[in-house]
Amino acid sequence: MSAFRNPWLQSAEFKTGRIGPKSIEGQRAVVFFADTVRGPVAVRCLKEPLPDGAKRYLALRAYLADNPVAAITPAEWTEDGINVAEARWPIVTMERVPGPSLLTFVEKNLHEPLRLAQLAADWRALITELSRASIAHGDLQQDNILLADGQHLRLVDLDAIWIPPLAHMPAPAERGHRHFQHPKRTRRGYWGRYMDTFPALVIYVSLLALAADPGLFNEFNNDQNLIFSYKDLAEPGRTALWPRLWASPDLNLRNLVTVLERCCRTTAELAVDLDTLLGTAATGPKLVRSPPWLTPVPAQAPRVVIGRPIERDDAAQRRWKPEPAPQAPPSVVPMPVSPAREPPAPIVPGPRVPVPQPSRVPHPVALAILVVILVLAAALILVVVV
Ligand SMILES: Nc1ncnc2c1ncn2[C@@H]1O[C@H](COP(=O)(O)OP(=O)(O)O)[C@@H](O)[C@H]1O
Ligand SMILES: [Mg+2]
Repeated sequence: MSAFRNPWLQSAEFKTGRIGPKSIEGQRAVVFFADTVRGPVAVRCLKEPLPDGAKRYLALRAYLADNPVAAITPAEWTEDGINVAEARWPIVTMERVPGPSLLTFVEKNLHEPLRLAQLAADWRALITELSRASIAHGDLQQDNILLADGQHLRLVDLDAIWIPPLAHMPAPAERGHRHFQHPKRTRRGYWGRYMDTFPALVIYVSLLALAADPGLFNEFNNDQNLIFSYKDLAEPGRTALWPRLWASPDLNLRNLVTVLERCCRTTAELAVDLDTLLGTAATGPKLVRSPPWLTPVPAQAPRVVIGRPIERDDAAQRRWKPEPAPQAPPSVVPMPVSPAREPPAPIVPGPRVPVPQPSRVPHPVALAILVVILVLAAALILVVVV
């Protein structure tokens, strides 16, 4: 491996598999792993150019020195770092994170709801920390999030990162993973301070949903996502996943799902961080009134009529139009609840429905008969008296 320019990499011992060096190929890079004098490292060999890569990574290193975030290990860009077939390519080296990807971790812990719930809380805390440091990752997704030692969240793949000193630079080509990003970002691109808000919410909702119902994984995971896919995000409220989530007994989750559904309908530039979007309180996330397009949805338990489909009456649910029964009234939604997997929803009294009362206004024919009888009676009395 003397193809490397960095002297400390020339003496590195690369991990090998059955056929040559062990590597992971992503969308834009092939990553090799080596033991070096600097410790275990990951060496990213880029498959396509990253304009101003050197500038971006240098600025990031300097920024992280002043604004450290434990989940992000500074990476080092080396121009002409590797020589392949007489051509020189840049490489990015960073400390190797020892642990599984978020996807692998979630899959292995599906039957540990407390671990998944803790992971969701850790995720919120990390997103808060990133936001306070004014950092946006740009490609939050299951393979770029690792669990160091199976515990600590770490972010890799820093090509698309946004920090204030880079704000004036053109957007990198990376638009993020389509199963995690706002559908409009996937289609048109967007790079900026708040680009992580949407995928962070997708991941947060996914983790809480899986903690409540691990069966969702088998039904909705396609290896490239957690549970949401591009179609779910591009057709908010109209794919099979949404009613499954709205049927959750977890009121907090249902609220979050409604927020996510609304976010899918807005522009990709949400212009708020996740904490502002959801609000924070000791009891957990609360909806907030800002920004104006986000109207809080009061927590409402589903009205359950024994032997009948669950009826929900919140605004978001009304928008859900089940495909098999488009003629159904919009306020009464048959929810495809699987009784085997779904814990029973809380039974709460629904609003009183006014029962139609029999009419008290006399019928015109009855009135006419009454008048005739009265006239005849009066005539009879008159005859008798006279
Ligand atoms: N520092 C690292 N430590 C451990 N694994 C890493 C590291 N960097 C990348 N990887 C692994 O390599 C994969 C591909 O690397 P990544 O930088 O995401 O490439 P791409 O830009 O092609 O997605 C990642 O999903 C992750 O599994
Ligand atoms: Mg990646």
